[in-house]
Amino acid sequence: MDLEKISGALRNRFGSTMGRIVENLFKKADKKETGSKEGSRAKKPRAMELPMEKGTKHVFRKAKILPVRVGKFDLLLSDRGLERGTITLISGGTGTGKTTFCMQSLYYGALKGEKGVYISFEEEPEMIMEHMMKNYGWDFYKLEKKGLVALIKIDPVKAARMVEGTLAKETGKLVIEIPKITLPIKPDRITTDSLSALSIAFKNEENYRKYVRELFDMLSEFNSVNYVISETEQNPRVFSRTGVEEFLADGVVVLYNLRIGGKRQSALEILKIRTGKHVKKMVPYKMGKGGIEVLYEEKMELK
Ligand SMILES: Nc1ncnc2c1ncn2[C@@H]1O[C@H](COP(=O)(O)OP(=O)(O)OP(=O)(O)O)[C@@H](O)[C@H]1O
Ligand SMILES: [Mg+2]
Repeated sequence: MDLEKISGALRNRFGSTMGRIVENLFKKADKKETGSKEGSRAKKPRAMELPMEKGTKHVFRKAKILPVRVGKFDLLLSDRGLERGTITLISGGTGTGKTTFCMQSLYYGALKGEKGVYISFEEEPEMIMEHMMKNYGWDFYKLEKKGLVALIKIDPVKAARMVEGTLAKETGKLVIEIPKITLPIKPDRITTDSLSALSIAFKNEENYRKYVRELFDMLSEFNSVNYVISETEQNPRVFSRTGVEEFLADGVVVLYNLRIGGKRQSALEILKIRTGKHVKKMVPYKMGKGGIEVLYEEKMELK
């Protein structure tokens, strides 16, 4: 917007007061746009440069929605997807389909040319790719060759020791210099699997909490849609290890494996999505050859 031209034209037509009023209004709006994010994960000056490609900073935090692409899941969201730069916790008990949910999103995104990175703190990337192929026929080998996905493994124990070493040296500092994660491609989506594997590698819960805060900040600076997996009990009341993760995240999706009568039924719940409206009911889903099938019904209201 050419502020000089517009306020000049207004000054000519309506006098200098009007020109100044509009000028101030634009300045205020400009401040708002470039201002720091409100809430618990407010930006702070960083001690290090992130490994981002040239030009990334210009699109930093620009609101842009990316569909999740997990069956009909996007119909449960008023935005029909998730905002870039946000963190969504994918929580649930063991075997509920957390990894499948995130890999399905990465896979169908990659088929549309959207790049995905899978950061594993647990399983070997080779094993994940093999299981995805065997269970659902998703060829991550091919996508990796094309540079559309990258699967990397980070040893949680090594990461925890590095962080704990840094924290021991930098006690009391506001900005801590944490070991950076270098990604081989500039991603549209990132999955981190899982916080639970990372948390058990820390000797001290307080240090883990500090690291989670730094990790979330680092992920949101990639300007990608970020899924962070958190393992819980089968019917959880807390959706992460310390409870701080779900508070820091912009969204929480919980996958349940409920026992109803003598049978097990899978259902998901969107607990929060800070950036928009969403269905607030339990939504059944099925797992099959095609991955997760969300059993959406039109009467499900967005609130
Ligand atoms: N083709 C398929 N059809 C139906 N169910 C399947 C299929 N492939 C895998 N599953 C089911 O998916 C579940 C595992 O999914 P996934 O690994 O995504 O879960 P998870 O929540 O990440 O588990 P974990 O807690 O072990 O990390 C298993 O219960 C398995 O039976
Ligand atoms: Mg898993």
